Amino acid sequence: MQYTNPDLKFNSVPPSGEIGWKSPSNIALIKYWGKKGNQIPQNPSLSFSLNKAHTQTTVQYRPAKGNKFSVDFLLNGKTNAAFGEKTTSFFKSLSEVFPFIRQLDFTIHSENTFPHSAGIASSASGMSALALTLCDLERTYFHQINDIDFFQKASFLARLGSGSACRSVYGGYTIWGETQAQNNTTNLYAVPVKGKVHPEFQHFQDTILLVETGAKKVSSRAGHALMNNHPFATERFGQARENLKILLTALQSGDLETFIRITESEALTLHAMMMTSNPSFLLMKPETLQIISKIQEFRMSTGTPVCFTLDAGPNVHMLYPLSAKELVHDFLNQELSKHTGNRGWIEDELGEGPQKITS
Ligand code: DP6
Repeated sequence: MQYTNPDLKFNSVPPSGEIGWKSPSNIALIKYWGKKGNQIPQNPSLSFSLNKAHTQTTVQYRPAKGNKFSVDFLLNGKTNAAFGEKTTSFFKSLSEVFPFIRQLDFTIHSENTFPHSAGIASSASGMSALALTLCDLERTYFHQINDIDFFQKASFLARLGSGSACRSVYGGYTIWGETQAQNNTTNLYAVPVKGKVHPEFQHFQDTILLVETGAKKVSSRAGHALMNNHPFATERFGQARENLKILLTALQSGDLETFIRITESEALTLHAMMMTSNPSFLLMKPETLQIISKIQEFRMSTGTPVCFTLDAGPNVHMLYPLSAKELVHDFLNQELSKHTGNRGWIEDELGEGPQKITS
């Protein structure tokens, strides 16, 4: 594997200590749906990192008691066996990149700022926080790494934990996957969108309308697998490549109309892929359709630049520039709130990316 480095191990008694990172969730505008090999995406994707929805992870480490490492994982203060197993296998898969992992025992405290049941994927924020923390251990005990290489490596490793996690390593807009639209892109890690994003898109808002707060009906892994042998796969991957180019130009020129057209089409295509796969999944709920129809009607009748995107679930991300916030909020309170019942919504916006936790 790239980054394999047998020298990254302690030659005397390993240290004890604590390192932590806070890392955001992100929302994809151009969707990653379909992968091959070792977490290689079938098409490039583009997202922005959120501000409020993030995972805060602190890793406490000490010399391993036995000849292999152990992980105790606590989510919001409570032992979580499932996350513990996921982290153990993630760490195992990285033991040739960071041989020091095998010399340590870990207690990991992780907290999400959004409720676990809110339907916001915690894998992007969680895996990126873990990858950043491991890279920080390397930087603390072995050698200095400049920031560019540090975040690049963290993104590469986060990708192995969860594809979309590699985009959470940076703030603002990020591209993961090879595209002709920007010259430093790769399937191996995400990179920030180059050049200036138009002011209209710099403080973009994301109000997440909660239609359902239960666990996901289809896991990401199973979802991506549905694209293998999907009758429309080749067309879809080609379309995503084209959409990314168009969206990137719109982001740079401030073309809200094109942004809206492409973003909504990507969300609906993601769901169309799920509805036409075998087995098929219908993840939108009646309220999802009511909300997205109302957003489109409101946009058409008032000219307000607001649109939606969807993850692989029924909740609606309503996206709009800061300049439209007041109008959108009136509309939200008057028209949309009735479709979210007592689940309500989460106010978020474009964020600046991960931060080291300093105590
Ligand atoms: C619909 O990154 O969760 O949110 O690589 O299997 O962990 P794994 O999948 P994951 O897939 C995200 C799918 C998506 C679209 C996106 O974020 O681009």
